[in-house]
Amino acid sequence: MAVHLVDHPLVRHKIGLMREKDISTKNFRELASEIACLLTYEATKDLETEGHTIESWAGPVRIEQIKGKKITVVPILRAGLGMMNGVLDLIPSARVSVVGLYRNEETLEPVTYYQKFTSRMEDRTALILDPMLATGGSVVACIDMLKQAGCSRIKGLFLVAAPEGISRLQEVHPDVDIYTAAIDERLNDNGYILPGLGDAGDKIFGTK
Ligand code: URA
Repeated sequence: MAVHLVDHPLVRHKIGLMREKDISTKNFRELASEIACLLTYEATKDLETEGHTIESWAGPVRIEQIKGKKITVVPILRAGLGMMNGVLDLIPSARVSVVGLYRNEETLEPVTYYQKFTSRMEDRTALILDPMLATGGSVVACIDMLKQAGCSRIKGLFLVAAPEGISRLQEVHPDVDIYTAAIDERLNDNGYILPGLGDAGDKIFGTK
């Protein structure tokens, strides 16, 4: 599994702004979307293109187009929705497959409450969206579901990843590549990333 820390000045600047304690909902939401867009640029670098000849103002010209239209974006509810528009800004025709998971507070295991995948998952590259790769529990469950649906090309896009979550993914799904704007220090006892961003879902939706 490859871990891509997207080390770009704009990404470092924007993730730094997101760490501000009193950041507004508006700013947090906009930055989440902008960073998701920059992560998408990196995560799609290996998309195949094919040549076409078109008629231009100066006569026939050879151009390149993305081969097929086979990407599905997979936001994990609810915080993953905060990254979706940034990804769709770059890939407007991508299909959206949604996964809803919550954590059983006794077993601490993720429980699926919603799953709606688009068609032909076996032909598609899936870009999972979750702002925080913390313990990795939800992402591992989401990948299990995608693989069960026949999807074999899967990448995960995160704003911040914890070493614990990266190790868990590497162990369980070594074929899945990670794209993240930051790799932070560790998890606290409640499973929050330190220094992290706090509760990304609450900050995106303005709850709490
Ligand atoms: N989910 C969050 O929103 N923040 C964390 O730090 C970990 C999980």
